[in-house]
Amino acid sequence: MTIRNGFSDMADGYDALATAEAAAGERLLDLVAIGPRDFVLDVGCGTGAMTFAARRRCQGKIVGIDISSGMIRRARWHPQQPDVSFVLGDAAAMQYERNFNVVILNSSLHWMADPVMVLERCFNALRRGGWMGVQVPATGAWCPLAQAVMKAARQEAALAPIMDRFRDPMTIMPDLDALEQTLDRAVIDVYGGSIETDTLDLSVGQALGVVDVQVGAALFNPVCYDKGLSEDDHARLRALATEVVADAADAAGRVRVTITRAFMHGSKQWNERRLTPAG
Ligand SMILES: C[S@@+](CC[C@H](N)C(=O)[O-])C[C@H]1O[C@@H](n2cnc3c(N)ncnc32)[C@H](O)[C@@H]1O
Repeated sequence: MTIRNGFSDMADGYDALATAEAAAGERLLDLVAIGPRDFVLDVGCGTGAMTFAARRRCQGKIVGIDISSGMIRRARWHPQQPDVSFVLGDAAAMQYERNFNVVILNSSLHWMADPVMVLERCFNALRRGGWMGVQVPATGAWCPLAQAVMKAARQEAALAPIMDRFRDPMTIMPDLDALEQTLDRAVIDVYGGSIETDTLDLSVGQALGVVDVQVGAALFNPVCYDKGLSEDDHARLRALATEVVADAADAAGRVRVTITRAFMHGSKQWNERRLTPAG
């Protein structure tokens, strides 16, 4: 299953909706401590917000890769910057060999069908001693508002049979240990990790935008349903999401949204171990 069209559909509006992802990405960049001449690979780069943020921190070559043509088109739409390029492709099929000092995955690994393969490709892309930083939603309460929308869809009589056909493409890490084990399988030596919760005070429209960024590319995406999703069912799901978010608003029309994330960084050690052969 590929969720690339789901992200292409939201590419034009993504940056305005994903300010919390951008803030988390800046924290991730702090963790990997990019040096002035580092080469950086941004995996699942989306519209390139973090790719350009990395550019502001170093002068080396920077590459963003993403599977969604809409996201890559949007990233390339930004004014050109020296030594920044964007590649359309599946991170699980990357063929980089020791080209980068830093690899970042900001809010992207959990969308990838084969996270371990992606991390192994990231490992291959890193020079020895290079740094990898990952930020993903985590824990059983990673975004209660988005989770409430999913739950309401499963519980509503008209939508329950449709949700039975829903195949969620996201892998949410239950805790730091699970993320560490995933990095460990890709031979990344973990140096540190933390769980952090962002609390946002938003209008109903903004909160709906957060729901879209967190689950929209899955919940509203026909490819995530066995036998697809009709336009009517799509509209019903959208209406239900609006209802759930509006219900969550206080008397002043504000919605309190929390997003809990795992941050983890590690490095490629000098004693390289054997990896799964590239498929
Ligand atoms: C939530 S967005 C995050 C974008 C960006 N990193 C940010 O911080 O705003 C997740 C991105 O991962 C991309 N993605 C999902 N699976 C991918 C894969 N297998 N290879 C490359 N990109 C992928 C999606 O197309 C999407 O642009």
